[in-house]
Amino acid sequence: MKNLIDKLRNTQNLSREELLILLKEEDEETLEYLRKSAEEVRIENYGKDIYLRGLIEFTSYCKNDCLYCGLRRSNKNAERYRLTMEQILDCCKQGYQLGFRTFVLQGGEDNYFTDEKITDIVKSIKQNYPDCAITLSVGEKSKESYQKFFDAGAERYLLRHETADAEHYKKLHPKELTLENRMNCLKNLKEIGYQVGCGFMVGSPYQTDENLVSDLLFIKKFKPHMVGIGPFISHKDTPFKDEKNGTLEKTLKLLAIIRLLHPKVLLPSTTALGTIHHKGRELGILWGANVVMPNLSPTNVRKKYMLYDNKICTGDEAAECKYCMEKRMESIGYKVVCCRGDYKDFKSFSREN
Ligand code: SAM
Ligand code: SF4
Ligand code: FES
Repeated sequence: MKNLIDKLRNTQNLSREELLILLKEEDEETLEYLRKSAEEVRIENYGKDIYLRGLIEFTSYCKNDCLYCGLRRSNKNAERYRLTMEQILDCCKQGYQLGFRTFVLQGGEDNYFTDEKITDIVKSIKQNYPDCAITLSVGEKSKESYQKFFDAGAERYLLRHETADAEHYKKLHPKELTLENRMNCLKNLKEIGYQVGCGFMVGSPYQTDENLVSDLLFIKKFKPHMVGIGPFISHKDTPFKDEKNGTLEKTLKLLAIIRLLHPKVLLPSTTALGTIHHKGRELGILWGANVVMPNLSPTNVRKKYMLYDNKICTGDEAAECKYCMEKRMESIGYKVVCCRGDYKDFKSFSREN
């Protein structure tokens, strides 16, 4: 099995069958070898630096009905909010003072935020903080909309593909949402020149190891700049309320495989991972991740952005979260750095630098 791990590390390439074997591996010594290989490759590419992203969850309204998500429109128990331009700029101000140089604007698909409103927000942030990167994560839009956001100054976009298997996609989404459209959006984002992030939940309902291999092969082919993965966690007011959560072990294994498959990728150790295990985010870093995304949203709205049950960091001020994260990373010998943290070798980000 170590041969397979070496092969993956040296060639960034394994067949479908080989990936499946690796994914099913449970021997502790072999898994430690996988972890160590991923950590080494991560250090070769990014040293012991941890990139920070300040997450601003600016709307909890969503017109979609993804079966797994607490913000889905059918969830009548969800409390909804929208941040104003002033509130968003306030989050950035606080974040900037704390050393954040990337702001991630994330929200449900909320038609209140027209292209014009999003463009205005992006422009205002850019005007105030020209040395910061802006990442958008607002779902599926037309190529024209993506282009407008890009022209306004957004340079990164996160849109998890959720699963690369069309049949599995159908089991997680209502029929108006298709994998075809999702993939088309990702293609458009890349063509425009964004640094693009795809990703998926580990242990989502009906997911098989074969599905996960398809996700890995998709990542290998698409070569995204970022990959967001975290365990699926059930939400009490969704159709998946009784489904099992994804596991720590599987998520860590996948983080390591993704690092070896795509060495320069920006790979967050996610809040969901920190939710299923008290040291989840630290472990994510030790298994190859190199990004953390503390929350900059105002504390009074945090509990309303409940994608899944028991989400952590919902009662803490931005400064507390940042400090806590710094300590956590120091405790494992890593260092949170104050910079934009772009993808290594990315050409078009130079329009700002
Ligand atoms: N609405 C945008 C979208 O769907 O791309 C951005 C926000 S959405 C809440 C961000 C991500 O949260 C989704 O891509 C999904 O993978 C993740 N998510 C939603 N529900 C989740 C759950 N129950 N457990 C873990 N992750 C979840
Ligand atoms: Fe809306 Fe995104 Fe949640 Fe789907 S995952 S319901 S698009 S917020
Ligand atoms: Fe948010 Fe610890 S990282 S409180």
